[in-house]
Amino acid sequence: MSNVAIIGAGYVGLTTAACLAHIGHNVTCADIDENKISRLNDGEIPIHEARLPELVQEGLSNQLLKFVVGAKRAITASEFVFLCLPTPQGEDGRADIGAVIDVVEEIRQLVLPQTIIINKSTVPIGTIAAIETAIQREDVSVVSNPEFLREGVAVTDFLQPDRIVIGATSNEAGERVAALYDSIDAPIVAVDPASAETIKYATNSFLATKVSFVNGLAAVCEAVGADIEAVTRGLGSDQRIGSRFLQPGPGWGGSCFPKDMQALVRIATEAGYEFDLLRAVIEANDQQFDRIVHKTELLLGENLSGKNLTLLGLTFKAHTDDLRNSPALEVAKRLATKGAKLIAYDPMVNSPAEIGDDIRLAANIEEAMTGSEIALILTEWPEFTRANWSKLMGLMNTPCVVDARNVLDRKSMVELGYRYDDLGRV
Ligand SMILES: NC(=O)c1ccc[n+]([C@@H]2O[C@H](COP(=O)([O-])OP(=O)(O)OC[C@H]3O[C@@H](n4cnc5c(N)ncnc54)[C@H](O)[C@@H]3O)[C@@H](O)[C@H]2O)c1
Repeated sequence: MSNVAIIGAGYVGLTTAACLAHIGHNVTCADIDENKISRLNDGEIPIHEARLPELVQEGLSNQLLKFVVGAKRAITASEFVFLCLPTPQGEDGRADIGAVIDVVEEIRQLVLPQTIIINKSTVPIGTIAAIETAIQREDVSVVSNPEFLREGVAVTDFLQPDRIVIGATSNEAGERVAALYDSIDAPIVAVDPASAETIKYATNSFLATKVSFVNGLAAVCEAVGADIEAVTRGLGSDQRIGSRFLQPGPGWGGSCFPKDMQALVRIATEAGYEFDLLRAVIEANDQQFDRIVHKTELLLGENLSGKNLTLLGLTFKAHTDDLRNSPALEVAKRLATKGAKLIAYDPMVNSPAEIGDDIRLAANIEEAMTGSEIALILTEWPEFTRANWSKLMGLMNTPCVVDARNVLDRKSMVELGYRYDDLGRV
């Protein structure tokens, strides 16, 4: 058992804290948000993430997990300090590491001798070196340990990862970090810090590229009469390619892909390489939002101005409450510019303040569909697949559906009498 401090109790920090306590470490998790910490101490989880409530409750009950306000209070007895802080996109496209450096300066004189500071935030290459400079302590090591969890299945991803990447200049520090994960069955990829930082950007950029590739392929399928599901079945069975991240959709988004793509483009430019491939992927993703709007116009056969549109799903994907850079909101923004009247339903969104003035929020799918001229499925919530589409049809003004997640059965929808469009299916 090791004494571990986690700074930042967001999606990454809270998951890391709960999972490290679950595998037997003594964890103190800090955040600057007092309200969040007080809710966590009451066992209330501020985000929607499967298995997290049970693990936090377990940690609070067996006292392996504590929550405190402020980094300083978390580190007093810790041998390891994880940084899980926000690194939003800065004005120049690079990730802003201000919060990371602020915390390092805040704790630098207080960390115990031989402490290892472990950075989990996604940061520009060279940040480990910048933290070493900021900490000004010969007896403290700084190690990169990027996080690859997916929201919605964060706990499972943390406890059963494909790999654990550890970037350290000192073998001893790297091995001490690896030992923290002893009870997790996953290969350790031990590299230098710059390579670890690059692996994180490479992973997200590659995945975003894969999604944009399949979105483009779906457009080709529509034009040539091929079926994207058949095509991706064949494509994904090639082990060099793999079947994951081959589902077409309204475009990629979320808190990581957009900012990590921009950051890698910027990092490359600064290093003297123009990463035009990634620029094209970013552009293709932007066009994908427009394609969904265009499909809506085509299916309705009319100008969208003044029309009642239903948005089904607002979060950036299912099984999370995260709305950051959601493709659904991007599409909504473009529909609103065309004068459409938007009403939305999402099982995880109930505060109008989160979604802006353009969208009215409905309490359930029926309310959202009443009087609607066209519905767009923008998040792949199972509730939308299970819905009684025959009954919903009776509530709509015109039975039109743009299924931007390919979650409904095309044939059944057409048989029911819907004008229906999706992505690349025949
Ligand atoms: N969300 C993901 O799926 C994911 C996955 C892998 C990596 N990452 C990366 O991990 C990092 C964190 O992402 P996240 O989604 O958990 O962010 P988040 O915004 O959900 O959480 C960050 C937390 O840090 C807290 N915080 C800010 N300043 C602080 C300070 N000075 N002291 C203590 N706490 C402070 C905030 O209040 C917030 O609770 C980012 O670099 C992100 O790119 C995120």
